[in-house]
Amino acid sequence: MNTACDHQESERVDARSARRSLAGRLCLSAVVLLAAGGCRSEMYDQPRYENYEASEFFDNGSAARMLVTGTVPRPRSGEDLRETYTSGKLGDVLVDEIPIKVDRELLARGQSRFRIYCTPCHGELGDGKGMVVQRGFNPPPSYHTELVRSKPVGHYFDVITRGFGTMYSYAARIPVRDRWAVVAYIRALQLSQHVPANLLTAAERQELGGAH
Ligand code: HEC
Repeated sequence: MNTACDHQESERVDARSARRSLAGRLCLSAVVLLAAGGCRSEMYDQPRYENYEASEFFDNGSAARMLVTGTVPRPRSGEDLRETYTSGKLGDVLVDEIPIKVDRELLARGQSRFRIYCTPCHGELGDGKGMVVQRGFNPPPSYHTELVRSKPVGHYFDVITRGFGTMYSYAARIPVRDRWAVVAYIRALQLSQHVPANLLTAAERQELGGAH
């Protein structure tokens, strides 16, 4: 025989299971919504604001902040240096000067990063004959052609950062400072294959076949 207590208990259980099944249904629809949403979102559609995108967060309805009244633009501000450091460009122009101090330590770092990330395709010498290429991958151009040598350092930085043709970006694997280290090392590799004769000692010139 059901006591009042039993009755209450069974009502509680009913309410609980009803709540549970409602929660279950909500959960399921959330999963379905997420899955459906996931299908439609593309990688290039990142959850962040583009420049000047509309936003309800600020009073003026724009995600971009307005300049403080009276701001005067100055060339080569800290901001410009920062932009050059992270993009290899000043405005739209690729720079031809490495924006950090190039010393032996930086070159050694560049060499070690280059050996890890770039030699599989570009080869130890940067001649484009890495192991992956020897196994059939699309060969990259040699760093030692007139054309590639003539490109500004900002170009190499930009290629590592954003990719180039079939080469993908290394921005996620190589931090900014290391990218400049690799760029410095590429310049060292290029110099190693095109040393002006007047930088060699007489003995070295002799060894290379007597060019004076
Ligand atoms: C998986 C192979 C592969 C790896 C690894 C790779 N590259 Fe490349 N790279 C290529 C190919 C292929 C091209 C030519 C792409 C094209 O022209 O479509 C290229 C082009 C370049 C260029 C442009 C040359 C020009 O014509 O101006 C530079 C600079 C360069 N790579 C630097 C690097 C550096 C630095 C690394 C290491 C951080 C690296 N690459 C890693 C395959 C690779």
